[in-house]
Amino acid sequence: MSKILITGGTGYIGSHTVVELMESGYDVVIVDNLSNSTTAPLEGIKRITGRKPEFVEADCSDLGQMRALFERYPQIRSVIHFAALKAVGESVEKPLDYYRNNILSVINLLELLGKRGGNFVFSSSCTVYGQPDILPVTEESPIKKALSPYGNTKRIAENIIEDTVAAMGNINAIALRYFNPIGAHPSAEIGEYPVGKPDNLIPFITQTVRGIWEKLQIFGSDYNTPDGTAIRDYFHVVDLAKAHVVALERLLEDKNRKPYEVFNVGAGRGITVLEIVNTFERVTGQKVNYEFTRRRAGDIEKVWADTTLAEKELGWRAEKTLEEALLSAWKWEERLLRRKGKGKGKGKRDNEH
Ligand code: NAD
Ligand code: UFG
Repeated sequence: MSKILITGGTGYIGSHTVVELMESGYDVVIVDNLSNSTTAPLEGIKRITGRKPEFVEADCSDLGQMRALFERYPQIRSVIHFAALKAVGESVEKPLDYYRNNILSVINLLELLGKRGGNFVFSSSCTVYGQPDILPVTEESPIKKALSPYGNTKRIAENIIEDTVAAMGNINAIALRYFNPIGAHPSAEIGEYPVGKPDNLIPFITQTVRGIWEKLQIFGSDYNTPDGTAIRDYFHVVDLAKAHVVALERLLEDKNRKPYEVFNVGAGRGITVLEIVNTFERVTGQKVNYEFTRRRAGDIEKVWADTTLAEKELGWRAEKTLEEALLSAWKWEERLLRRKGKGKGKGKRDNEH
């Protein structure tokens, strides 16, 4: 039986995707260097699916380590590539770390997959659109100059995949451009596990309610939006995980129209920061302490997806509600409160050592 290689599979989106793949009957092997995660999700996945996934600790940016992995698993014919560094601010401080890690990983995996042929699904981001001129954004919307080295690694990686697929002829690839995945598995066995101070809105809200931070700072109240706060396309991480299963199956069943395809993956509607806070308070019954501060450097005002292509071609659309997503995020935070950071790996919250 062929194996699906999941890079970054102990991370946030990867671990949720592993669950959906295993529940759909796929045989997976995870590779992760634990730079931003621990082995704890392997236990969570086992509690959900009844089986612990195979795990290899290795660095995708190291060609020797990846070569050894591919030699050990000749059954690997498909790769879902999540492994990347993703902190936008840090990427501005340490661009070479980001280019080395994120770009070398893509190159190594494509090179090795190309030796045997197969399928490649890539975690891209709506960050490639920058601030779009027309909303919602379609896959045809122009790619803008990246606002950070992190965003640039996504743009460059997409180009590398497209060129390599065209040249090699034996790899089919899909890049999924994620909008804003949030929430956790409804079982609260796995979820988002940010290290240190969270950059992202939802973990900052849940940690503030938990009392780790005094106040949520809402970055900007003077945007050209209905309530002045910025707009994003938030959707449930379990829906995103399912999008990977259908993308993979499209490739496995030769249903792709072109060797390289790109799909937006989001809920297809824009939500403001204040709407998120209000909805979170309503569904959890918890009060969020917040204040308005100035805009965050590099933030865009508003973006949301046109998901027509994903609906038509993949038969996928986000099913879960915003309420479900926010409630699951809170259930996960409550779970973390009861549990100290477990498992091997550096990706532990500072406050949980
Ligand atoms: P995450 O940090 O939770 O998961 C990434 C995993 O990759 C981590 O477990 C980390 O240890 C691992 N990793 C990093 N570099 C590695 C390397 N060289 N070798 C092996 N493992 C390595 O992040 P996530 O939120 O799950 O994101 C997954 C992917 O989705 C990333 O490519 C990210 O850029 C992309 N993405 C995420 C979002 C989002 O909002 N979370 C949005 C758009 C795109
Ligand atoms: N926000 C706050 N306060 C916070 C955190 C966030 O007001 O403490 C606001 C931001 O200003 C933004 C919105 O909440 O308006 C969402 O911010 P996030 O950081 O959660 O998400 P972004 O859309 O800014 O960025 C995320 C990922 C990027 C990725 C991008 C597109 O962090 O890596 O989505 O996929 F590139």
